[in-house]
Amino acid sequence: MPVSKASSQGLACLALLLASHFPLWAADVKAGANIAANGGAQGAPACVSCHGNQGEGGPGFPPLAGQSAGYLERQLHTLAAGKRKAVTMAPVARALTDQEKADVAAYYASLKLPIESKVGPLPKSKDSNGAWLVERGRWADGIPACAKCHGPGGTGVGTDFPAIGHLDAKYMQTQMAAWRKQERDAGPLGLMGSIAQKLTDQDVQDVADYYQQLHQGAKPASN
Ligand code: HEC
Ligand code: HEC
Repeated sequence: MPVSKASSQGLACLALLLASHFPLWAADVKAGANIAANGGAQGAPACVSCHGNQGEGGPGFPPLAGQSAGYLERQLHTLAAGKRKAVTMAPVARALTDQEKADVAAYYASLKLPIESKVGPLPKSKDSNGAWLVERGRWADGIPACAKCHGPGGTGVGTDFPAIGHLDAKYMQTQMAAWRKQERDAGPLGLMGSIAQKLTDQDVQDVADYYQQLHQGAKPASN
């Protein structure tokens, strides 16, 4: 059956739309590894100097290993565009070309996440606030369980929901504060931005403590 003019125009539009969302070039993991170790061609510094040799992170520097490429690449774009304010990281993101962003995101996604998927026992009492928030949520305040979006053990789901089970409380607090002050883009559908408004500092500390205890013995990423 011949394709009508209208529908072929539709297809062309769709192709354009897809092209604007999905780069036509493939991400190159090897090139990404080189950027991580040695920096980018336009002056971006080596990522390892802050994020650790294997993207394991450290005090003040979030871990990157094993996060999805989609999440990492999106953060690099929002950081570069000033939609996620971060004095140290924003200039680094700005110094990466779009191709370099895709490559380095693919490289970090190829490394192993330091934690494994794990479901804790469903908490029976609200005394364990961290467990309650992670596994059940707090519906009275409109907070769904973290595990619903971030997966069992906070190991992340797909390209939109990052792993959070290995993040330290201090970094989480900084991000929640940034969302509250509207200094970090609210993310897909504004989901996380609105949840952050409802979490107290104590909640975030409790969640981080709970994950830490759940993943006890987890080793830093190594490949
Ligand atoms: C001078 C230190 C420094 C260097 C070098 C650096 N970063 Fe960062 N990066 C940071 C800090 C600090 C943050 C946390 C920003 C915040 O608090 O929001 C960060 C955050 C990030 C994030 C967001 C992580 C998340 O979980 O949302 C990504 C992605 C990232 N960096 C990638 C890179 C890449 C890729 C490179 C190398 C090209 C790099 N960084 C080099 C300091 C650095
Ligand atoms: C309805 C889905 C949803 C729920 C429930 C949810 N999140 Fe998120 N969260 C997201 C999305 C989407 C992002 C990515 C935001 C972005 O792209 O900037 C995110 C990002 C995060 C980040 C940033 C990670 C990083 O590396 O910077 C933290 C921390 C976080 N969530 C903590 C939590 C905690 C704690 C809970 C439970 C109290 C929770 N989230 C519940 C959807 C959710």
